Amino acid sequence: LLLIIDFGSQVTQLIARRLREANVFCEIRPYQSVDDATLYELNPKAVILSGGPASVNAPDSPRAPQKVFEMGVPVLGICYGQQVMIEQLGGHVESDQHREFGRAFVEPAGRHGDDTIFSGLFATGREEVWMSHGDRVAKLAPGFEVIGKSPNAPYAIVADYDRNFFAVQFHPEVHHTPNGRKLLENFTRLAGFRGDWTMGAYRDEAIRMIREQVGDAKVICGLSGGVDSSVAAVLIHEAIGDQLTCVFVDHGLLRLGEAEEVVTMFRDHYNIPLIHADESELFLGELEGVSDPETKRKTIGRLFIDVFQKYADQIEGAKFLAQGTLYPDVIESVSFSGGPSVTIKSHHNVGGLPEKMGLKLVEPLRELFKDEVRALGRELGLPQSFIGRHPFPGPGLAIRCPGEITRDKLDILRKADAVYIDQIRKHGLYDDIWQAFVAILPVRTVGVMGDGRTYDYACALRAVTSVDGMTADYYPFTHEFLGETATRIINEVNGINRVTYDITSKPPGTIEWE
Ligand code: XMP
Repeated sequence: LLLIIDFGSQVTQLIARRLREANVFCEIRPYQSVDDATLYELNPKAVILSGGPASVNAPDSPRAPQKVFEMGVPVLGICYGQQVMIEQLGGHVESDQHREFGRAFVEPAGRHGDDTIFSGLFATGREEVWMSHGDRVAKLAPGFEVIGKSPNAPYAIVADYDRNFFAVQFHPEVHHTPNGRKLLENFTRLAGFRGDWTMGAYRDEAIRMIREQVGDAKVICGLSGGVDSSVAAVLIHEAIGDQLTCVFVDHGLLRLGEAEEVVTMFRDHYNIPLIHADESELFLGELEGVSDPETKRKTIGRLFIDVFQKYADQIEGAKFLAQGTLYPDVIESVSFSGGPSVTIKSHHNVGGLPEKMGLKLVEPLRELFKDEVRALGRELGLPQSFIGRHPFPGPGLAIRCPGEITRDKLDILRKADAVYIDQIRKHGLYDDIWQAFVAILPVRTVGVMGDGRTYDYACALRAVTSVDGMTADYYPFTHEFLGETATRIINEVNGINRVTYDITSKPPGTIEWE
């Protein structure tokens, strides 16, 4: 195990991510929870001290247990971790005007042989790094020497080769430090990690932790059919079997065949106890006559909680609520909470259940990024067609049906969407696209089919590329593809006689229409 002691940096999880990419097993512990006893128990083969927002010169600022430096294991300090390390070992840190944020270049300034954590670095004479610090080391601790310097950080990289202590002022874990990954990997190899850890091992570890947390209590999981909650459900079921019950709230706003698919897969294939809460009457009833997007979203969010609560109450002795929270959800809620940002859309998803339910949370995916969740899903045997699915919003088709929602329109929308997705799959484009769907527009237009006049709905096709859904660009389909798809939709879907393609990027548009 490699132990990461977290001093609260926004990017600490990226250290873990880079280590997992190097196939090294690691664990992050907040600095407050690491004492000598923890160190003894965890018995790490190496320690990384993360960055953090504090200043070592501020009263009561965090420190690492001194024992970290006495265990005889390699230690790497990053940013605040460097300052803590140097200060605790007898050096000095200054808080002054030499702030540095963003890109910088580090040049070699001492010995850095091939057999150290610096092997393969400085090949072009200097390394591009990402800095973000207010304080800096002003005097080294005994035993340390300087290895690299930047214009604003004379001790950008320092080392005590005898004790295998290394410290860097910059952040090797972020993408903007192109060779940072190499540096971290070198560090793990030097500490004796062979890089043989796998997602299979993560699964075993996660299962062990779920069992430890839950004991013999019952767990409820809100299942949406999306990748995150599905992977969480299957993993937890592996850990605790039928102590888990999934509640799948069907709001009647799902895609063609989706509810059946979810029920078949979880109940029949995985044998997971599943309650299919078919509450479409309730949801569609309350949404009748509602055309304002925020009212739709809020109504669905509120009903979802009521319904979930109702079914959860039927599960006697449940003490835990399982959620497929991912790491990006965790940072987003930390870094944006309390900020003055404007609500563009009130999000609703299965993760949004309130704390007042009185259940403790089980969140086995909290440390993972989306692609890692997919890898874990594959490890658990979930089919690729399922794992690679485009995201689908919690409010479902409601926000793809601008204006009033009627059953009629939903039926037409479902059919058109199925044809569109079929086209995309047939042309082998599905995996190149972040998200694709049809929106049915609240206008009817005149057309001519055969010898007759038609007066039917218009729809819009949407397909975007994106890395995280925060920004997006429309997908550049060929005209042939668009033409063929429009023809198929109009021929195969009764109720649509006009097809348009939405070429708005985000911003200024959003991905969904509402
Ligand atoms: P927008 O439309 O804001 O969407 O550009 C960005 C991404 O978020 C999804 N989305 C949601 N997901 N609950 C969700 O779980 C919601 O309320 C919600 N609204 C939008 C959207 O599908 C896209 O992937």
